[in-house]
Amino acid sequence: MTLYRGTFLDTPVAGSLRTLDGVVQVEDGVVVARGPAADFPAADVDLRGGVVLPGLVDTHVHFPQVRAIGGLGMPLLDWLDECALPEECKLAAPDYAAAVAAEFVDGLARAGTTTALVFGSHFATAVDALFTEAARVGLRVTSGLVVSDLLLPDELLTSASRALDEGRALAETWHGVGRARYAVTPRFSLSCSPALLESCASLLAEVDGALFTSHVNENLAEVAAVAELHGGYVDSYDRFGLLGPGSVLAHDVHPTDAELAVLGSRGTAVAHCPTSNAALGSGLFPLRRHRAAGVRVALGSDVGAGTGFCLLKEGLQAYFGQRLLGGAGEPLTPADLLHLATAAGADALGLPEVGHLSVGMRFDAVWVRPEPGCTLDVALRTAADPDAALAKVFALAGPPDLAGVWVDGDRIRG
Ligand code: GUN
Ligand code: ZN
Repeated sequence: MTLYRGTFLDTPVAGSLRTLDGVVQVEDGVVVARGPAADFPAADVDLRGGVVLPGLVDTHVHFPQVRAIGGLGMPLLDWLDECALPEECKLAAPDYAAAVAAEFVDGLARAGTTTALVFGSHFATAVDALFTEAARVGLRVTSGLVVSDLLLPDELLTSASRALDEGRALAETWHGVGRARYAVTPRFSLSCSPALLESCASLLAEVDGALFTSHVNENLAEVAAVAELHGGYVDSYDRFGLLGPGSVLAHDVHPTDAELAVLGSRGTAVAHCPTSNAALGSGLFPLRRHRAAGVRVALGSDVGAGTGFCLLKEGLQAYFGQRLLGGAGEPLTPADLLHLATAAGADALGLPEVGHLSVGMRFDAVWVRPEPGCTLDVALRTAADPDAALAKVFALAGPPDLAGVWVDGDRIRG
């Protein structure tokens, strides 16, 4: 049993910020009580000076692209050819893949990300290295073999039967083991034949509780190319039965109303990736249209097109994007940003036990504790109220300001 003393901010209900200046009691990784300090004996861990947030949830991030971060100035398809895919080819070498896996998992943990839906590699050995490293560090990771049989460099291509065999073997090894789960992951329908997507549907049906993830409607040139190859983008997945409540599609910057209606009716979630959309010039995310269609939305860093692992930066960029949409944008409050970065992510990934710090939830948490005297420290000490403090966290905080990270009550950093 551990008693944590601090100022805890979370959003169990979308849109409203809950604050506890008090104690959270954790047993076997689960929050069993919370309340004013006077109701508890002396705390074991003092997290005062700063704020404690639920662990951040990244619903879309690419493991093999750590070293591709920062390739600016290109739209999606050029960036893939020039930055991402050459780097991804290097993960064929097991030593290289293991080094990148260590950098990747460390990058997530430093950024306060405790749960992630991770786009894996095209190489099964590299995906195995990722799961191995995530288990060693203790992150809650869902990932899978990325598959394609068209368009990409030859060494990244597979066949429908090999995709099924390799995916099945990885799922047998990792799905449901510790904090790991498997996600069936065609790269995007532009790089997949109908036969390959069919094999993805077979694997999804075989692996009970597996997620499905891919990309959709990111860039106008890409959307036009998918229309040539398959017809509609959302339909390219839906016609194989790949869209349901356990599916997460990244981006969706350019959906039609009919596509949003399909996503809403299937219960499929969308990973909004704000820094990536800005860096690649993909466009501004139509959050209001998603909400109007009942589509669940959470945040993704989309590293390496995204400009870093920290979901706090994604929250700020999401806010900027909606501001730039003017009247068509959703005005986002600090509580909305925290909800998108935590509870909405947990919901998108089908993990009801994480995302906030209520009794009964797993203790996944991040202690934002800036260096005394720095701008964020001054801002937090002078904030008028918890909403203002949270706004300052999103405006100013980054990985160096995170002094502790917990998953299931295990301190994985700090
Ligand atoms: N679409 C297909 N592959 C990718 C990728 O690696 N990054 C992004 N942002 N979009 C993609
Ligand atoms: Zn992506």
